[in-house]
Amino acid sequence: MKDQDFTDLSWDDFDEMRDPRPNTNEFDAVVERAISRRGFLGGALAFGSGALAMGTAGLMSSTTAARAQSAGFNFTPIGISTDHEIHVPEGYQWKVLVRWGDALFSDAEGAYSAETGVPVAMSDKVFGENTDGMETFVDGDKTILAINSEYVNPKINLPAASEGMPQNADEVTLLKNMQGVTVLEVADNGNGFEVVVDSPYNRRITHETQMTMDGPAAGSDLVKTNADPEGMSPKGTMNNCGSGKTLWGTYLTCEENFNGYFGATGDYTETEGHTRYGIGGEGRYAYEKFDVRYDLSQEPNEPNRHGWVTEINPLDATSTPVKHTALGRFKHENAEMVQAADGRVVVYMGDDERGEFMYKFVSNGVYTEGGSTEGLLSDGTLYVAKFNDDMTGEWLPLTPETTGMAMDEILVFSRMAGSKVGATTMDRPEWIAANPLKCEAYCALTNNKNRGVKPNAGGDATPATGPNPRETNNYGQIVRWRPEGEDHGADTFAWDLYVMAGNPTVYDNAYAGSENVNEGNMFNSPDGMAFSSDGYLWIQTDGDDSNEGEFAGQGNNQMLIGNTDTGEIARFLTAPNGAEVTGLTWSADKKVAFVGIQHPGGSWPDGNGKPRSSVIAVWREDGALIG
Ligand code: FEO
Ligand code: CA
Ligand code: CA
Ligand code: CA
Repeated sequence: MKDQDFTDLSWDDFDEMRDPRPNTNEFDAVVERAISRRGFLGGALAFGSGALAMGTAGLMSSTTAARAQSAGFNFTPIGISTDHEIHVPEGYQWKVLVRWGDALFSDAEGAYSAETGVPVAMSDKVFGENTDGMETFVDGDKTILAINSEYVNPKINLPAASEGMPQNADEVTLLKNMQGVTVLEVADNGNGFEVVVDSPYNRRITHETQMTMDGPAAGSDLVKTNADPEGMSPKGTMNNCGSGKTLWGTYLTCEENFNGYFGATGDYTETEGHTRYGIGGEGRYAYEKFDVRYDLSQEPNEPNRHGWVTEINPLDATSTPVKHTALGRFKHENAEMVQAADGRVVVYMGDDERGEFMYKFVSNGVYTEGGSTEGLLSDGTLYVAKFNDDMTGEWLPLTPETTGMAMDEILVFSRMAGSKVGATTMDRPEWIAANPLKCEAYCALTNNKNRGVKPNAGGDATPATGPNPRETNNYGQIVRWRPEGEDHGADTFAWDLYVMAGNPTVYDNAYAGSENVNEGNMFNSPDGMAFSSDGYLWIQTDGDDSNEGEFAGQGNNQMLIGNTDTGEIARFLTAPNGAEVTGLTWSADKKVAFVGIQHPGGSWPDGNGKPRSSVIAVWREDGALIG
């Protein structure tokens, strides 16, 4: 019997349940304070003289904003939707490329049933549920996609009698196999591609797949378990959220809400490290009742083996994934790899939790095309971001000297290390995207209802300042930074906000959003982001799609495209009600965009039976490039 029903909670609501905010607080009465101070009243992104250091591109005059409404894109922006369909602009086509339960191998064809879903025996031979980050790889004339399956909806996967909680080990196995990563080959059939069943590239990586670890925390006492006394051979990658692609053509999958998979069946002492990461109590899927690996009373270090960036070679289905401890352990959203001016590898990363931090890793070695990649993700320095109110910022190194912690502790408990150096508490950093045409990067700060209301789990204050200026921030914003000297390896940067999401039809204050938000393009909770090769910023949302109250007129979740020079933002795609849009990659010829549709409602896309999370393909009818 389960004690609580978690099945309808989002991951952040699950964490909030364990660590609730106070019912009343001193800040509720002063929600306008920070906004007035920031000068948002009046609409424009007026940041004062500090902004001048970044040039004028970050600032939008009324004239610029007005022009942006009528120019810049080669598609006609679409309106909101509230139905259970996909909508794209006139002149574009879309189709489902692959759905939860679709066979990767011919012996699993027909395994999926609209009534019962996927049988456990076939569950590691089909496409997983709840698609998220993905990347495209090319091997000769082959196109390979690596695609995350972030989590499962147990009520959709399990028999109704289970009431959304596994009742036996087989049901746990089913849920484990529906998550992780799918690697699959797709072939260009001139109609948005199709899956190549039985391709030798096809592979499922699940919560049970054998992995290795590298970097300074590999083999540490903190990651040793009874099953792996050397601390070098973790199993499984879980809650695979956003993604990244290395310069050398491998896939980075990012482990986000790993904490919810662990629970205690017996005596268990919660440590400071467990508390900071939301570990303890009852697991979300009852894994701990059927698998000792997830039982905190028997394997208290098992959670320390999750929450990493894991590298997968998608071109070799027999390769062993590697967890890179040098990149830190937190609720990784994505991993955006760029190169410093001197050739070192730089990876930008967000920790998606209210009041947690933004990070970057910088390698010690340099990457050269075709050269050895040995050590590039295991030997380097992890930094955490500090944003100053004067629109400058700095990357603070997390070292034994700066934190007073041992190196393995810094990496396993990166959040605690970040607190020690005074990192800036952020409004849930989701995807980070680097502009391919200029030295700047963007992070979606999706929302934070606790901004100015409650400290983070480490006790760090969350004042409404800097790039997180709105208390009780239900709409989110996108922060942008430009590294000193146009070098991603630099320790300092200048920042501004590219957009503050909001609702100008409901509010006339800072909650209306910045001037590049209007009735025709408004949205809430920016999340997935990627730049197309032509320098446009594609923005996906994971927000409130009730179309009511402060979200009235915003419709279903959506994908928008931003011109980062003018500030113009235009709606390109709307999702079926209930779904978020997450995950974006393009075919090598840039003629097809692959877009993830996660947790749809109703019975999308089949029109009967269960809703099926899917990757769709979108292309222009005239065959022109869209990426
Ligand atoms: Fe899995 Fe933070 O989104
Ligand atoms: Ca996300
Ligand atoms: Ca999200
Ligand atoms: Ca989500």
